[in-house]
Amino acid sequence: MLENLLLRTAIGLLIFIHVNAQNQLVEVATSPEYQWNGVALTKNGRMFAGFPRSAGDATISVAEILPTNVIKALPGGDWNTFNPINSTENVENRFVNVNAILTDVNDNLWVVDAGMIGNRTIRNSAKLIKINLQNNMVERIYSVSSLNPPEGFALNDVRIASQYAFLTESGIGSIVIINLQSGRVRRVLDKHPSTKFDAPTVVRVEGRKVLDENGEPKKMPNNNLELTPDEKTLLYKPSFSYNWWRISVADLTNESLTETQLGDRVIKGSETMPTGGTTMDNEGNIYLMDLERRAVWRQKPDGSLSLIVRDDRIIWGDASDVSADGFLYIPVSQNNRLPGFNNGVNQVEKPYRIYRIKINSALRTKSVSVLVLILIFMKFFVG
Ligand SMILES: *[C@@H]1O[C@H](CO)[C@@H](O)[C@H](O)[C@H]1NC(C)=O
Ligand SMILES: *[C@@H]1O[C@H](CO)[C@@H](O)[C@H](O)[C@H]1NC(C)=O
Ligand SMILES: *[C@@H]1O[C@H](CO)[C@@H](O)[C@H](O)[C@H]1NC(C)=O
Repeated sequence: MLENLLLRTAIGLLIFIHVNAQNQLVEVATSPEYQWNGVALTKNGRMFAGFPRSAGDATISVAEILPTNVIKALPGGDWNTFNPINSTENVENRFVNVNAILTDVNDNLWVVDAGMIGNRTIRNSAKLIKINLQNNMVERIYSVSSLNPPEGFALNDVRIASQYAFLTESGIGSIVIINLQSGRVRRVLDKHPSTKFDAPTVVRVEGRKVLDENGEPKKMPNNNLELTPDEKTLLYKPSFSYNWWRISVADLTNESLTETQLGDRVIKGSETMPTGGTTMDNEGNIYLMDLERRAVWRQKPDGSLSLIVRDDRIIWGDASDVSADGFLYIPVSQNNRLPGFNNGVNQVEKPYRIYRIKINSALRTKSVSVLVLILIFMKFFVG
């Protein structure tokens, strides 16, 4: 009887500790002026943010967030000064419209320049940039101009493998593959239904339908992607689709396959929900930024989902990152409050914020040890 009560109290206490510790979003940085939609961390905790140009012409594109919230443009100089109103030259060597940033296993920073502002294609500006974080200098620029990108083409996000970069292209919907050594670029699956906007999906964020400036359901073609830790499978999805699509990297990089053959090898993956951003930890768990519920889910490689947090402050959780010490960093982009996603009305409330939440299993291990200790104690004194 007493043992039972103690046990139930112990389990109750455990769940309480667990839920309380796990449920808390902590604000780590704010951007008073410029919208951000991505965060990336190095292994030793340097933090970077990516700033698109969806909320206005002026922005700084890429910055390091220093302690005490100092936002320092990176790499600096002319890279960060492009402005579509008054400073539009040299687009090959400047950030025109950064849509994604990523740190790789060697702590290089990768930057995706969409090559498009709003619906305006800026010729020769779509590119992937590698920044060496030892010296904060641009090490290599991978232009995609050789694709002769069609009107509407927009690079979106990137994942880096040993030999390739894989990018989603979200203007028309396709996948772009860059050979990191040769710089050779290919574009595939641009006619495949998996890369297209899943009409007639209408997504609601903060209770409002996500509508473009003309009041039509916002179209979001191929957007989120993840590469499994073994580099064998690429997952991708349009933001508003309800499932992942999967393709083997061996097929994706096999140039002898025709588009039809490649398309036939695309497999429907796990069920998800409309997501503002995703990230994967090194065990292959994916963290999904659930737009409609303002929540974050962990999806195991087997597809099962568990809730990490639900919080009204996650107003379009965007491209997140997992830190070496086991926190998930979540940038809040408020995209759904921008005119282009909100039926022409601007409802953004500055500043923009980045939160983090503990996600690793250290706490659970500690709680389990506490439970084991209580059980041993009970066995000794009670039983
Ligand atoms: C362009 O305009 C921005 C303000 O939007 C200003 O900060 C910047 O200095 C201007 N650049 C040039 C080259 O005039
Ligand atoms: C681009 O957007 C502007 C308004 O932002 C609109 O007037 C124009 O028709 C659009 N052009 C295309 C090609 O969609
Ligand atoms: C590429 O695809 C062709 C056709 O299916 C196949 O014969 C070949 O083995 C593949 N190459 C590689 C490296 O997988």
